[in-house]
Amino acid sequence: MKILALIGSPRKRSNTDILVDEVLRGAETKGHTWEKVYLYDLEIKPCLDCRACKKGNYTCPMDDGMKGLYSKIDASDIIVFGTPIYWYGPTGKMKLLIDRLRPFIASGKLKGRRGLVVTPSEEGPGCCSPLVQIFRMSFEYLGMDFLGSLLAIAYERGEVAGNKEEMEKSYRLGASIL
Ligand SMILES: Cc1cc2nc3c(=O)[nH]c(=O)nc-3n(C[C@H](O)[C@H](O)[C@H](O)COP(=O)(O)O)c2cc1C
Repeated sequence: MKILALIGSPRKRSNTDILVDEVLRGAETKGHTWEKVYLYDLEIKPCLDCRACKKGNYTCPMDDGMKGLYSKIDASDIIVFGTPIYWYGPTGKMKLLIDRLRPFIASGKLKGRRGLVVTPSEEGPGCCSPLVQIFRMSFEYLGMDFLGSLLAIAYERGEVAGNKEEMEKSYRLGASIL
């Protein structure tokens, strides 16, 4: 299966990125292939609710980094949404991405695809329910299956790499993907 990992942290090689890498390492043991995209490398304009994506061939008319990303999403079987907690929700860039998933509502193309969420935060799992709920409900609306979430405590840049338990949990989550 093809995995698309979306990194919604502006900090490359930091907690989100490191945890997602572990998930992907685990997933490789089950023969999955993957591609990683750093959302902060892309221009993602806000959805303007023009509703063009509800008609015709269900495409978004905006000209930005989503053009290439739409086809990557379309070609993937499993999507990893990696985002730190920013004010109890996803980062702004990840929210822009979620908003721009609207063409997939009309096209129904993500039905049956699977998704998981990887999230570090200073406070840890106890503060992540609003974020997990956003993804759970969005997946449901898109017809996607929620495969699980990895919610880790981490604050300083890259500190999660020193947390053996969280690293192993991430690896196991990846290895559990069949
Ligand atoms: C703007 C901003 C808002 C944040 N809000 C929260 C928060 O509400 N709760 C929390 O536990 N951590 C919060 N954090 C901390 C990050 O979630 C934490 O540092 C995380 O490990 C960053 O992941 P990264 O290293 O992948 O960027 C916030 C950080 C920033 C920059």
